[in-house]
Amino acid sequence: MRLLVSAGPTREFLDPVRFLSNRSTGRMGYAVAAAGVAAGHAVTLVSGPVALPPPPGLAAFVPIVSARDLLAALRDRLPDADALVMTAAVADFRPADAAPLKIHKGDMPAELRLVRNPDILEALRPLKGARLFVGFAAETDAVLESAAAKLARKGLDLIVANDVTRPGAGFEVDTNVVTFLAPDRAPEALPLLSKTEVARRLVARIEALAAARRP
Ligand code: CTP
Repeated sequence: MRLLVSAGPTREFLDPVRFLSNRSTGRMGYAVAAAGVAAGHAVTLVSGPVALPPPPGLAAFVPIVSARDLLAALRDRLPDADALVMTAAVADFRPADAAPLKIHKGDMPAELRLVRNPDILEALRPLKGARLFVGFAAETDAVLESAAAKLARKGLDLIVANDVTRPGAGFEVDTNVVTFLAPDRAPEALPLLSKTEVARRLVARIEALAAARRP
């Protein structure tokens, strides 16, 4: 299979030295990319700025910075993919005006005007065709309800829900506690596992979904 994986945060610059971003380290997405390579798939990894080296054996590595870069990179690569796995933590907002030069503190406005970034999964939906789309949902409350709503709203084949408030789950740790949700199937809750093992099981789930699609 040809897997297109997005990982890490996006950065939304206010001026050349300041940006809005989030806590994503890219670990979950890099683990998915590595698990895909280990299972013999052709993996393209599109990544926001992280401190990790790209896993060996990728078909391609595409660094990006902003949500709009990520959308453009995925739109380019999607025609050559069988499945898209969106682990990237996309910044939902960006500063309305990005200054070309550093804003000195005396000139900094007291309030920042923000505008919405595109929802990448929704923007790519018209190009989905027979491809599998997999999302992640990092939640802090009403975890399964919110993830199920995103599964439906974004037209996904699978969503990986995690409660980032649980010990050993979410950001900046090597483990995760996730539940796989797919349309018309009972949720599958996994125990506390390394991100490597979560990724291995996710790739196996994607392989099973792809096999079930074949005539
Ligand atoms: N996602 C996306 N484009 C965005 C935001 C998120 O494609 N602008 C993707 C993420 O990569 C993830 C899934 O959508 O696979 C769910 O992301 P999440 O941040 O949990 O959901 P949001 O759509 O941002 O919803 P909310 O802010 O209401 O939680």
